[in-house]
Amino acid sequence: MRHLTFASIALLIYCNLVLVEAQQCRSYNRKSGYCVSIMTCPPLLRLLQNNPTVQELRQLQRLTCGFDNQDPKVCCPYSVITPPLSSTSDRLAAPPVKETSAETTPTSTSTTTTKKPLNVNEIEDRQNFSSHSKFALIPKLSECSEVFVTRDRVVGGKHVDHGTYPWMARIGYQYRTGKKLTYYCGGSIINKRYILTAAHCTEGLDEYIPKEVRLGENDVKTETDCNEEYHICSKAEDYKIEKIIPHSNYSTSTKHNDISLIRVDRDISFESYFIKPICLPFLKEYDIENLTLPSGLDSAKAIVAGWGRTVANKNDGSDSLLDVVLPLKTNEECQSIYTRRVIISPKQICAGGEAGMDSCGGDSGGPLITFRSVNAMTKRTKLFQTGVVSYGPVNCGVGGLPGVYARVSQYLDWILENIEPS
Ligand SMILES: *[C@@H]1O[C@H](CO)[C@@H](O)[C@H](O)[C@H]1NC(C)=O
Ligand SMILES: *[C@@H]1O[C@H](CO)[C@@H](O)[C@H](O)[C@H]1NC(C)=O
Ligand SMILES: *[C@@H]1O[C@H](CO)[C@@H](O)[C@H](O)[C@H]1NC(C)=O
Repeated sequence: MRHLTFASIALLIYCNLVLVEAQQCRSYNRKSGYCVSIMTCPPLLRLLQNNPTVQELRQLQRLTCGFDNQDPKVCCPYSVITPPLSSTSDRLAAPPVKETSAETTPTSTSTTTTKKPLNVNEIEDRQNFSSHSKFALIPKLSECSEVFVTRDRVVGGKHVDHGTYPWMARIGYQYRTGKKLTYYCGGSIINKRYILTAAHCTEGLDEYIPKEVRLGENDVKTETDCNEEYHICSKAEDYKIEKIIPHSNYSTSTKHNDISLIRVDRDISFESYFIKPICLPFLKEYDIENLTLPSGLDSAKAIVAGWGRTVANKNDGSDSLLDVVLPLKTNEECQSIYTRRVIISPKQICAGGEAGMDSCGGDSGGPLITFRSVNAMTKRTKLFQTGVVSYGPVNCGVGGLPGVYARVSQYLDWILENIEPS
């Protein structure tokens, strides 16, 4: 294994955000395969060892589906899988996970087992930023997460009606000097000038330059999207990017602080039914009741909506907006599932990863959403952005690893510090 350079391993591990504990999968040449250690897949092992070209490395990244202890797992065609000669020697180097930060201490002080159910009301820290000078830039409770289409029973993995998640943004990238924009990441509208997204969607993309955000879209293939029930149609709107503000402590290796703000070059009009800001979890400021769940949801659940586009699967994804319901996980449980492959910081939150459950649908940078009852009398529920999609499995229907999200409640002060008036 001497031939595996540190760089190629790091590339395999960290450029590819697909970390799936997969069973069956689709390998090269559309062959069916299993997700196995690269040591048991001679063709791909040879490819990795023989100075792979950039294209071959890309292919390897696409086929990476997790880790076996410290070896990358790849999707290997059934016919070529061979048992390793020695299961203990020739281990690959450990991934370069930094463990020095104070942030890496486990968040929960609970001493009970990792199976303890998550108390959904513990997921947000309740600070009070009401008197912060920038708090006035945040939409009022009556202005955020205002939708005219509600999903009464959230089933997930289904196309959603146009207008269900009107804060969804798509980020358009220009490749080198090309003119055409391609959309690899999502984001959420948080006020009339800013989109919240992941730092990995704005940083370290080499030749892809974030240029525009597209708002009010449902089906990416059609010029006009319509809500069938209400017979209202709209066109997407494009806003040029004026400024990108990544979190200064974003780490490309640990994915900690994977959060970024995008300022657009003019005020976003919220006149359309299909373009609205989402509520951020300013719970104390909004004087919010504890979380309650709409019918059909029986435990701590969250929603991810998106077109399934991530930095790792640039060409795949759905044409129309999908959503999926995911169980929230405690950080302890999440860490125990990821073992030492990654360090889950208290500023992250995990969701999903249950066997047989769809965990696709979200876009890199898109929002993880939870429900809260905002009025005890009317039991009116509003959606709040609890996370920003950072990394995790992208394959549908493959149980295993939870998705990892930046925990928005831990960045409310950072957001306030970094937004500016129009
Ligand atoms: C980044 O980390 C340093 C050291 O832990 C800390 O002092 C600083 O406040 C952090 N920056 C932000 C924007 O949180
Ligand atoms: C938050 O702070 C504001 C102003 O400082 C105060 O009026 C409000 O009552 C506080 N809210 C809570 C829930 O403590
Ligand atoms: C909300 O949840 C907190 C923490 O679980 C609890 O202490 C509080 O009593 C709850 N408040 C209401 C109004 O149910």
